[in-house]
Amino acid sequence: MAPIERFGVSMPEELLREFDRAIEDAGYANRSEAVRDIARDYLVRRRWELPDGEVVGTITLVYDHHVPGVEQGLTEAQHDAEATVICNTHVHLDHHNCVEVIVVRGTGAQIRGLADRLISMRGVKHGELSCTAAQR
Ligand code: NI
Repeated sequence: MAPIERFGVSMPEELLREFDRAIEDAGYANRSEAVRDIARDYLVRRRWELPDGEVVGTITLVYDHHVPGVEQGLTEAQHDAEATVICNTHVHLDHHNCVEVIVVRGTGAQIRGLADRLISMRGVKHGELSCTAAQR
């Protein structure tokens, strides 16, 4: 494990009380654990905005596989992508609907570009991009 450093933080009393209530509701054991997660989340968000920061995205799609061309379109978009597709899971949800979860690696702009192309495709009913990155 990496060495740990301690530091003091000053903040308005009312803000700290609200923070303590919120992290207790969320199940955090202590402030340090909560502050570490908040710092990581901030760093991930920043890295997504950098032109060359490597990040990881999960793109979840729900689409109707009966719509002509949708499956070919989704495949072509992934082959053409600047981001690297790591894996792809497909679930036949019901008669019409498929769920596809695509894990991609690349810069934030590359991943957003792929997600936008997939989500806006005819036949795709819902899509969501979740943004993360490797952590310290
Ligand atoms: Ni399917």
